[in-house]
Amino acid sequence: MGCGMPGTKRILTIFGTRPEAIKLFPLVHALEADERFDSRVCVSGQHRGMLDQVLEISGVKPHHDLDLMQPDQTLDALTARLLTGLGSVMDEEQPDWVVVQGDTATAMAGALAAYYRKVPVCHVEAGLRSGNIYHPWPEEVNRKIIGDIAALHCAPTETSRGALLKENTDPGTVHVTGNTVIDALQWVTAKIGQEPQLASGLSDLETRFAGKRIIGVTTHRRENFGEGMQAIADAIRRLAARPEVAVIFPMHLNPNVRAVMDEALGDVEDVAMIEPLDYPHFARLLDIADLMLTDSGGVQEEAPALGKPVLVMRETTERPEGVEAGTAKLVGTDADVIVSEANRLLDDHDAYLAMARAHNPFGDGKSAQRICDLLCEHS
Ligand code: UD1
Ligand code: UDP
Repeated sequence: MGCGMPGTKRILTIFGTRPEAIKLFPLVHALEADERFDSRVCVSGQHRGMLDQVLEISGVKPHHDLDLMQPDQTLDALTARLLTGLGSVMDEEQPDWVVVQGDTATAMAGALAAYYRKVPVCHVEAGLRSGNIYHPWPEEVNRKIIGDIAALHCAPTETSRGALLKENTDPGTVHVTGNTVIDALQWVTAKIGQEPQLASGLSDLETRFAGKRIIGVTTHRRENFGEGMQAIADAIRRLAARPEVAVIFPMHLNPNVRAVMDEALGDVEDVAMIEPLDYPHFARLLDIADLMLTDSGGVQEEAPALGKPVLVMRETTERPEGVEAGTAKLVGTDADVIVSEANRLLDDHDAYLAMARAHNPFGDGKSAQRICDLLCEHS
């Protein structure tokens, strides 16, 4: 059964954190513009400030906002709040489909609450697997749970499609759509082109660090809390000691990140620890950075699209495409390794050029439209 009368297919899109919002706003835009659908949006508020930054720039206005973030929330309490809150919204909305993205607690609880109501789930960014349930933790298991539940799997690449087929997922439900992050990146780039002031807020830092090599840093992974964060801070301090290097570090709002970084780097010259950037300003940082040091998932996808070398401070990655493309390299969380790999890129021009090639294994910017069409085709 495809789409019937215009507006008859009710899609409830659910998200709660910054990366989900970035990767789902292009789909919400597409659903809203498509008369085949009645698009409804529920945000859990798993993140508050960082979610609101994306809602504001994208213009997405949720129909429901559960506002359930609590300071330093635990996984179990968060998941319990999500399950009951999202379930109530589904009871009210009676959707034909629930859409979730990626691997967060919001996505997993959204899929589970839909399953409890026998509402089919569309999983955006399906089939990412590291093969290690503790790296990334708890996202690897969240994805597997969603993968078991979903009726429609939107795999970003052939690699992710292959991972699902290896798990005996019905091939008729698995489609390679590309990753909507490329849609988002193209959208924000075009928007900055029209309104450059949207990304002009870094100009003071750009002046302060003029002539220096810029390293952009983000970090937030739960499995890196403690020793890993300390090692990352140590590596940043050592890299910033180079006279020609400056670090711009928009810090995640998680207190487990901030406590370590404030203490370790608060007094280091040429390290600018700043508040999380909204998406246009982060796109600007990607543009001005010589290289990125990150444990983020999304940044591993954006950097290859922009030809920015990215050193991934994780033991494993479920996004091998960036590594295969040569733009990303896994360096783990050993300070010596991070420093020596970054130094190699700063000192060896050929090594730098070998990584700084724009390559886009993650999509063509048309993923959202493909997902709309799939939602229509699948009953
Ligand atoms: C969450 C996701 C992770 C994703 C990451 C993206 C889970 C289990 N984790 O991790 O998969 O990669 O988001 O950033 O779903 N906080 C704020 N304001 C904000 C956001 C967070 O103050 O806007 C603080 C709060 O104290 C909150 C804490 O950060 O309790 C942790 O937030 P949470 O969403 O549980 O975990 P993240 O580490 O952000
Ligand atoms: N990002 C942003 N501002 C920042 C840091 C990151 O807008 O200060 C964007 C980045 O471009 C990417 C996404 O946030 O699209 C990644 O989010 P995060 O690292 O929090 O989560 P992950 O991708 O690891 O789940």
